[in-house]
Amino acid sequence: MKTKSDFLKMKETNEPIVMLTAYDFPSAKLAEGAGVDMILVGDSLGMVVLGYDSTIPVTMEDMIHHTKAVRRGAPNTFIVTDMPFMSYHLSKEDALRNAKRLMQEANTNAVKVEGADEVVDIIRALTKAGVPVVAHLGLTPQSVGVLGGYKVQGKDAESARKLLNDAKLCEQAGAIALVLECVPKQLAAEITKQLTIPTIGIGAGDDVDGQVLVYHDVLGYGVERVPKFVKKYANIQETIHHAISSYVAEVKLRQFPESAHMFTMKEEALVALYG
Ligand code: KIV
Ligand code: NA
Repeated sequence: MKTKSDFLKMKETNEPIVMLTAYDFPSAKLAEGAGVDMILVGDSLGMVVLGYDSTIPVTMEDMIHHTKAVRRGAPNTFIVTDMPFMSYHLSKEDALRNAKRLMQEANTNAVKVEGADEVVDIIRALTKAGVPVVAHLGLTPQSVGVLGGYKVQGKDAESARKLLNDAKLCEQAGAIALVLECVPKQLAAEITKQLTIPTIGIGAGDDVDGQVLVYHDVLGYGVERVPKFVKKYANIQETIHHAISSYVAEVKLRQFPESAHMFTMKEEALVALYG
């Protein structure tokens, strides 16, 4: 399994870090099999697998449940688990207790928290306690209500300056990596240049140390509309729709099952049974 030092080395040697989300056993197994460097059990699971319309309803129990399944599917991949909404804001103690559960019960390798300001102290406390932390700046979906929608962040000089400063504070507090979501590519490039830790972008351009995308977006699986920064590498939902429709039609028409799918008794047994 790759570690924090490997990711640092990848930044130094300019080898892109590939991160993908996964939420269950098969997605984790496929991600590991395809050679992703890091798996994120994102709280995006609230939307893509649980059907909520934001990440706000996601709970610690959800994150533990899904991380356990991901770990079983990807025993040899570095896993980062999102700390869900309000699981690291009430107090330092609460944040530590929740991170402890993700590491001990779910066997994750690191946790991810959104934002700076008060969260910087939480990053420091978790790091001091031995919990590797990935920071997340730019568009931070847990604050969507405060940000006023899913919008690009850091477009003007003032907010760009704050973002760059926040990134440095996260690094100083001990973050092992930084996710940058929906920020202009020039700003992401500057942050990447000024930080020692790797930056992992989603909608942050090509001058970052790695990329992360949501599993379902990459596969075109159960998602209607995808953001501008997504590249759909497949259209799995079309394949699934076709397969299930064929199953429905064949059962209705009594074309399935065919003899190849059936179990039969030997002739003697039938005679003994019915005479
Ligand atoms: O929850 C998630 O999938 C994320 C990524 C989009 C970075 O936080
Ligand atoms: Na997330």
